[in-house]
Amino acid sequence: MSPGSSAAHRAAAPAGRTRPSPEAFGPGKVILLGEHAVVYGHPALAVPLTLGVTARGTPAARCSLTGLPDLTLAQRRMLDTAFDTVAEATGRPPLRIALASTLPVSMGLGSSAALAVAVSRLLLSASGARASPGKVLALALRMEETFHGTPSGVDHTVSAHGTPLLYRRPVPGRPGRVRRVRIGARATLVLALAGPRRGTQETVGALRRRAVRWPERYGRLFREMGRLAVEGTEALEAGDLESLGDAMNVNHGLLAAAGVSSPALDGAVAALRRAGALGAKLTGAGGDGGAVVALFRKAPPSRVLDETGLVVLTSELEPHR
Ligand code: MEV
Repeated sequence: MSPGSSAAHRAAAPAGRTRPSPEAFGPGKVILLGEHAVVYGHPALAVPLTLGVTARGTPAARCSLTGLPDLTLAQRRMLDTAFDTVAEATGRPPLRIALASTLPVSMGLGSSAALAVAVSRLLLSASGARASPGKVLALALRMEETFHGTPSGVDHTVSAHGTPLLYRRPVPGRPGRVRRVRIGARATLVLALAGPRRGTQETVGALRRRAVRWPERYGRLFREMGRLAVEGTEALEAGDLESLGDAMNVNHGLLAAAGVSSPALDGAVAALRRAGALGAKLTGAGGDGGAVVALFRKAPPSRVLDETGLVVLTSELEPHR
């Protein structure tokens, strides 16, 4: 899983040659530990994917957005509203922006944040501003808020930084914290797609209603998830993959206890553990479907993955040099 995924606004071509289309990339992400708890101010550990969304601009009379053909009408409307906000904030540079995604959409792998980061980077560069991480984060958050209401911010922060992070959102009375995480040992992540799911906002909202009704009970679960994120980060940095895998297994149990797993997600987790994963858990919002992440020391042979019967993607965790 390569970090570095900065804006790719290409340099201007020499005079007389066609100017290449400006483009920008936003990587997807996978949460290894701490989703849902992160909404309540606890830490989460997340890493960027090499898969993501590319926004490519061509000069046009007005600022517009195309691409991503598989969206429902409701998703398309939401995207138009989100785009309008950031286009307005950057002075509507005259570009027709086309989107291309290598990420499965609405699977808990950060496709909306990747899109928000790619579009924000492109619009900022096209408007003549420097697409600094701070500016990209601020604009991408506005798009994410249109998509998800009040997201924790972990998705677009990991996408904008393009590096593994231990992330804690700001909460009243305590500032947020974003810490870069070193990868201490090479490993392979297997991501399994466990089918379509409800929107993040709906799953987060249903859990919030339970947490408001029984604050002590859910508060204990969220605190423990946050502790696992910190312990798992220490394990990842120390190259202790067995400990990280164990933290992921325990985290899946807590997410199931919080009511955000499903038979499809539990089945995928069990299949990947049988295939030799050091740890496996649902990742992202979960609910009725979405994705599972499993940690392996080395990529399992394709025969072993085929036997799980799951649709899988693999991604590498590479130690930093
Ligand atoms: C983010 O991919 C998943 C959740 O933690 C929601 C959030 O962080 O806003 C469930």
